[in-house]
Amino acid sequence: MPRFAYVNGRYIDHRRAAVHVEDRGYQLADGVYEVIHLFRGRLVDEDAHLDRLGRSLEELRMSWPISRSALGVAIRELIRRNRYATGLVYIQVTRGVAPRDHKFPIVGRPVLVMTIRPISEFPTEMRENGVAVITIDDLRWARCDIKTVALLPNVLGKQAAAEAGAYEAWMCDGDGFVTEGTSSNAWIVTDEGTLVTRPAGPDILRGITRQAILALAEVQEVPVEERKFTREEALAAREAFLSNSSHFVTPVTSIDDVVIANGKPGSLSVALHKRYMDYMEAMPAALDDTQRKKSLS
Ligand code: PDD
Repeated sequence: MPRFAYVNGRYIDHRRAAVHVEDRGYQLADGVYEVIHLFRGRLVDEDAHLDRLGRSLEELRMSWPISRSALGVAIRELIRRNRYATGLVYIQVTRGVAPRDHKFPIVGRPVLVMTIRPISEFPTEMRENGVAVITIDDLRWARCDIKTVALLPNVLGKQAAAEAGAYEAWMCDGDGFVTEGTSSNAWIVTDEGTLVTRPAGPDILRGITRQAILALAEVQEVPVEERKFTREEALAAREAFLSNSSHFVTPVTSIDDVVIANGKPGSLSVALHKRYMDYMEAMPAALDDTQRKKSLS
């Protein structure tokens, strides 16, 4: 159980951390969020996540609750107080607390909430056997590039996956093309060994892990096509995998109960997973020595 949460400038016992009932995030889903992986004491791609947070805020005409540099300090203080080496840092900014009214409040300032949840490192089972995915219709709005807390279609999709015994649901647009997973980006590998993922646009979240994988693939000279692919193409693919900050590169070994290739994680998926682990290991430590010592005392 995490011990401290951050609520608007205060580090509070997680069990008692709360926001006001008229927080617009709670009533109207009027807020944005980020999830950053804390991997063995390193914040993975912190800058890219904070860039995306800034973009989400700007797109929704919200302001930073505190300066970006102050946010970096607060994240580190939360890590220090919670003493986790590996976990997920959750950052949420809402438009603030105001009497319920759809239009923006005249007064009021954004509310910033952060938590850290410890997670176990990548489960062996997932690495060795991959995961099952189902496909569903994409019921979301036209600005999926903004990381908002309005996640109802994603919630329903993930629940449908769980009820079907699957790990993730890949959403398909009206033309049968896969957009992305409910909390991950979707990838396939063609027979020719080309890595395929949907181009960044308003219909998907531009995953930070996705960006890192594209860069790693380029270094490895893996051919990449950023293009749409259909559910049928995925079913016939040589490999499939999904990516996100919590589970990096996760091999997908069945889609809608159809086994992908030989039903084992594909070699490129496994290689990219390893490269991504190395990439994370190379990140700078979140806390310096003095802060670390303080957190152990
Ligand atoms: N979700 N697409 C969607 C819809 C997502 O919610 C996520 C991440 C991604 C992958 O983005 P990234 O690589 O930046 O984590 C793609 C986070 C992990 C979540 O909601 O918990």
